[in-house]
Formats: sequence, C-alpha cells, structure tokens
Amino acid sequence: MNPEEGQPADSGISGSDDTEGGNSDFVVVANRLPIDMVRLPDGSTDYKRSPGGLVTALEPLLRKRHGAWIGWPGITDGDEEPIFEDGLEMRPVRLSDDDFAEYYEGFSNATLWPLYHDVIVKPVYHRSWWDRYVEVNRRFAEATASAAAHGATVWVQDYQLQLVPKMLRMLRPDLTIGFFLHIPFPPVELFMQMPWRTEIIEGLLGADLVGFHLPGGAQNFMILARRLVGANTSRASVGVRSRFGEIQVGFRTVKVGAFPISIDSDDLDAKARHRDVRQRVKDIRAELGHPRKVLLGVDRLDYTKGIDVRLHAFSELLDEGRVDASDTVLVQLATPSRERVESYKAMREDIERQVGHINGEYGQVGHAVVHYVHRALPRDELIAFFVAADVMLVTPLRDGMNLVAKEYVACRSDLGGALVLSEFTGAAAELRQAYLTNPHHLDGVKDAIEAALTQSPEEGRRRMRAMRRQVLAHDVDRWARSFLDALTATKDTVRSE
Ligand code: ADP
Ligand code: F6P
Repeated sequence: MNPEEGQPADSGISGSDDTEGGNSDFVVVANRLPIDMVRLPDGSTDYKRSPGGLVTALEPLLRKRHGAWIGWPGITDGDEEPIFEDGLEMRPVRLSDDDFAEYYEGFSNATLWPLYHDVIVKPVYHRSWWDRYVEVNRRFAEATASAAAHGATVWVQDYQLQLVPKMLRMLRPDLTIGFFLHIPFPPVELFMQMPWRTEIIEGLLGADLVGFHLPGGAQNFMILARRLVGANTSRASVGVRSRFGEIQVGFRTVKVGAFPISIDSDDLDAKARHRDVRQRVKDIRAELGHPRKVLLGVDRLDYTKGIDVRLHAFSELLDEGRVDASDTVLVQLATPSRERVESYKAMREDIERQVGHINGEYGQVGHAVVHYVHRALPRDELIAFFVAADVMLVTPLRDGMNLVAKEYVACRSDLGGALVLSEFTGAAAELRQAYLTNPHHLDGVKDAIEAALTQSPEEGRRRMRAMRRQVLAHDVDRWARSFLDALTATKDTVRSE
C-alpha cells in the first residue's frame, strides 16, 4: 500500500467510478460456493454440499440474510449462470484446469496452507502459481464488483482470496469491505519467508476490517503491517470481539479484530435429540459389534489434522494393553481433500498403512479395530456418530478453529462422551474442559486418551456441561453478528470523520 495516497498501489485493474454493480446489498465472497456441482455420466449436473468449516459456518447465515454468494462451483470450466436456492443467490466463478492446478492446488494449498500451518510440510514457492493467484483473485474481485449494489457490504473469506480486498476497493470505493481468515495467521518469522509478503499484506489492508480467530493472529498481522508497509498501528493488545487494533493506511483506518468462529449450536443440539438419530446411534453401535467404548475422528483428510498422531497413540495403547482390542473400536471418518497435492497423497498412504497395520495386528475376521471411511457422510449420519462416540479425538498439529470439536459438544445434550483436544486448535482457547493435549508429545496424547476413556460419569458430565455452556452461548450467529457489527461501525467512523 502506498500510505501517502491512502489508496492501494497498482493492482493491475483499472479503477472505476462506483456507478456499476449489481443489486445485492450483502455479498459473501469465498473460494467455494456452498455447493459442489457434480457432472453425471449422462452429461447433466447435480449438486452436493461442499466440504469444510467455512461452508458449515456461513451457509445458514447467508440464507437468513438473502445475500449473494460468489465462489467456485467445484468443477472446472463450469457454467457461470447464477443459481437461486432457498433465499440464497449463488454466482459461480469459473476456474480452468490450469487455474485449479496453479491457484487452488498450487498457491493456495501447497504454498499458503503449509506456511500458515506452522510449516508442517515445506511450502512450495513458484512464480507461476503466484501469477495465477493474482489473476484469479482479480476475477473474484471483478465478479464481486458486478454483483454488489451501491454502498453494499462485502465479506471476503479466507486465504485463497487475500488480494481481493485491495482489488475490490480499487474497483468499487463505495463498498464496505470485511475480510475474515479461517485458518491461523502465522508468526512473523514464518510469514517473512513468503516472497510476495508485502503484496499479501497490502491486499488485506484494502479491507475496512480484517478478522482472525484469535488475538495472536491479529497481533501478528499488525506487526507485519508496520514492518512491511510502514503503517502506523495501535499498540494495545487486541481482545476477543473487543479492543480492536487500528492500522492507519493513508487516510483510511483499517480495524483488526479477533472473532472465534462457531457453529449453529441450537440446530445441532435439536437434531441430535431427534428420535431417528437416537435409533441410528443404537444401530451404529450394533454395527460396530456392541463395543464397550467407541473412539471417533472426523476430519477432512489433511496433514494438519493429526490423524496419524491419534492412530499412532491408539496403536501404542493397544500394544501396551492399556486399551483392549476386544471391546474398543476407533472410527475414523475422513472426507477426501486436495487429492492431487503431493503432501496429501503421501499422508493418505501413510494413514491407510497405519489403519491396515492396526487391524492386521489387533483385528479379527469380522471384527476390525479401526473402521476407516474415506468419504463425506450426510449430516444426520454424522450427528449420530457424534452421539455414539464415547471419546472424540481432535488432534491437529495446527488448526485455525476446528468446528468438529464444537459440533461434538453441541450434539451431547446427554452430557455423555469426552473430548480429547489438541492445544494447537483455536477451539482449545474456548473448550478448556476438554482433555487438552500437545499432539507432538505422544505419551501425553496416550495419557489424554486413556483419561478420557476411563473418566467417571460425574467427571464427564461436569466437563461436558461446562463446554456446552460455552458452545451454546457462542454460536455462529454471534460470530457473524460481532464481525458485521464491527464492520458496520467502520462505516459510521468514516461518515463521522
Ligand atoms: P476444516 O474447515 O479444516 O475442514 P473444521 O473442523 O473447521 O475443519 O470443519 C470441518 C467441517 O466439515 C465440519 O462441519 C465437519 O462436520 C465437516 N466434516 C468433516 N469430515 C466430514 C465427513 N467425513 N463427513 C461429513 N462432514 C464432515
Ligand atoms: O478452513 C479452511 C478451508 O480451506 C476452508 O476454506 C474450507 O472450509 C475447507 O478448508 C475446505 O477446503 P477445500 O475448499 O480446499 O476443500
């Protein structure tokens, strides 16, 4: 950003007056639409829910607000015709095969994703991927500019679209622009690896409000804005949904805040109490062979999730006789994710090898110890698994929030179950009564699993009650409201200046 001018530096798009645009007053821009198009063999198209926490969080909100959602429809070279469904307008952005390979698989998921997740695998830096990322961000900015009504509020989501705020401000200075990062924002020393670090910080500074899950991420961003673009920033620490930071960018003030994301807790709570779900819980336990204890993992198949950690811990507990293979099973539900990216291929092979090893060592014919399902499950089925699980295993090496942990808690109105939760998730800051554990410390993970398996019913109820209080009070509506209220307040500030 060029601080003197108060305008973003050249973004490669020409500025325009603010007379163009569409008729949506509230627009969400995210890499994915909430639905994935699927091409059927007969040439027709069908839809399924798209994966991940972002969609889980935002879809109910957008439907309520009758907003427009701009995103990629999950297939390359798809149709760009708007889709209207149940109060929601969806505007597909087309990605070619090359865009998919270089912008999505490449820069988003082999560069940014590992860099922002503590470099668990080595980020790959390719100039052609960066060029494609700039180009696709521009396409999203242009699609947004033509959908948003004059003076509309636009909410840009996540690491795939960090350049959109600045590009959009150039195109449509009349808009109020918010940005929220759904993954961790890395420590300054790691971010400094990024060859295009200044451009990314400048891109984000095009927003009026930049939001992170945790105060730490907000703090890192403020330091980088000082260091990389020479901006003046407030020095006081950022609070949760309060005490916003401020960054002076020319004549504009960019607010920075921490807004931990959540789920539609009431909806899950109600669904989990439903008679059909209760019946399905009984069926699941019967299908698993009536084990005394069921452990559960539910994740996108991603190396950040520490699926290997929990399998390793489980295997050693079986080895040491601390868990009995004849009465305990582990169910791992894993949604396929980013399957052509090298690090994901390697991780999948490793996990499937571990599952095979454990079953080979401890299973019997007709009785597996680990049940591994490599596909997304329907929502009601997933809820039944949450209710059926005695111990939920959430062991990421790093995770921005982890909604699965909150979903499990929301589903346990019976106050049963126990949550083993990695300290390196955003959720750990809120779910303090979980069995918190450091996923890098295998013995600690084993102890946490054993403690969760052997807790007394009173202890379990005490912990679950406290976690439920947190999750039910801080739902996704509250998250969205707190972000959007802070965003609206930036409008008021500008008007009163
Ligand atoms: P991420 O955004 O990194 O995928 P989150 O835990 O925040 O991680 O969100 C994952 C979302 O995807 C949750 O809503 C979870 O219920 C859903 N999900 C994960 N695995 C599955 C699965 N196997 N079947 C159905 N839904 C799943
Ligand atoms: O939470 C991070 C994220 O990239 C979200 O944007 C999305 O909800 C999820 O992971 C799924 O990832 P992808 O869109 O790459 O399948």
